[in-house]
Amino acid sequence: MQSRVVSLEEGKDPAVSIKASQSKSSPIRLLQLFLLFLAICISFSIISMYTIKRSGVQTAGTAVKSAFKHCFDEPNTLDRWIRRPSNLLHKMSDEELFWRASFVPRIKKYPFKRVPKIAFMFLTKGPLPLAPLWEKFLKGHEGLYSVYIHSMPTFEAKFPPSSVFHRRQIPSQISEWGKMSMCDAERRLLANALLDILNERAFDDHGPYGRGRYNENMAPEVNITNWRKGSQWFEINRKLAVNIVEDTTFYPKFEEFCKPHCYVDEHYFPTMLTIRTAPLLANRTLTWVDWSRGGAHPATFGRADIKEEFFKKVHEDMHCIYNNQSTSICFLFARKFAPSALEPLLHISRNVLGF
Ligand SMILES: *[C@@H]1O[C@H](CO)[C@@H](O)[C@H](O)[C@H]1NC(C)=O
Ligand SMILES: *[C@@H]1O[C@H](CO)[C@@H](O)[C@H](O)[C@H]1NC(C)=O
Ligand SMILES: *[C@@H]1O[C@H](CO)[C@@H](O)[C@H](O)[C@H]1NC(C)=O
Repeated sequence: MQSRVVSLEEGKDPAVSIKASQSKSSPIRLLQLFLLFLAICISFSIISMYTIKRSGVQTAGTAVKSAFKHCFDEPNTLDRWIRRPSNLLHKMSDEELFWRASFVPRIKKYPFKRVPKIAFMFLTKGPLPLAPLWEKFLKGHEGLYSVYIHSMPTFEAKFPPSSVFHRRQIPSQISEWGKMSMCDAERRLLANALLDILNERAFDDHGPYGRGRYNENMAPEVNITNWRKGSQWFEINRKLAVNIVEDTTFYPKFEEFCKPHCYVDEHYFPTMLTIRTAPLLANRTLTWVDWSRGGAHPATFGRADIKEEFFKKVHEDMHCIYNNQSTSICFLFARKFAPSALEPLLHISRNVLGF
């Protein structure tokens, strides 16, 4: 590199000295200086081009960039706005979190390659007995999913770094069955998932009687014709998740009037979404569940139930509508399974579930 610079300057030198010998008057002197300057410029650009080709400058550039990153930690690029939170344990209050999660881009086309992900949200007291089955299900699909866990605040998860559940707990608070605190927990899960712009769909996994629970004090915001019941097991897209997180209209009504035997967690989301976004609702579940035994709780299946015949029964006679098309795949999930079902499920999953 050095030698090339020298030879180029030498190459230009004769021209300069020839002109210099022609005359010593000042216009010529100016021209002389100008030519010298031109020569230096040309040499400089050749040096630059040469160095860039050898990628020396590029590496230097990156080094400088990362040094800047250390200094300010916020490079002023698009990356700053699409980077997923590196630590789920943020210090935002619910109010701050919901506000931040309600940010929505208005331009539909993303100016970067966005691979949409499914957010799997687990609302649990703590342990996840079927975790190994989820691990098996998600294995090999890295980059297409994200996992969020809302647990008891005191629960300390001990998932190894290789686990899909490792460090996936969000800041949690105590939530009680049938109370608004349960809805709060679900909104918290959704809001945290919304912070990652790549999450497009959310599935809420939750460890579950009708219009009689409606309270007229909820009118006019909520009236009996829109009263709906659902379960905490739902699948929604980003748009509906934002609807839930941003709601300040229906929340106070449900908080005040849907208690104590109203089971607000079964009514708030489905009723609110029916009022706000009815045409977007599928009005059915994706989670298979067996209520045939009667009573307030669905059947729980354990070790002895997990046989191929069981899954034949689950899959038979299925017809439902998906995107206005008839399909035989109606359920993507099923419940309820006791911890004792784990081992046979891990054995049988490849044959009956395809993973
Ligand atoms: C409830 O809402 C529906 C549609 O929004 C309306 O037609 C109906 O009159 C309302 N009923 C009451 C009791 O307000
Ligand atoms: C679900 O019900 C709502 C009204 O409650 C309706 O607007 C919507 O089209 C229904 N969805 C489907 C897929 O039928
Ligand atoms: C659904 O399908 C029916 C019959 O094929 C059609 O009449 C209707 O317009 C479709 N609805 C939508 C929303 O595509």
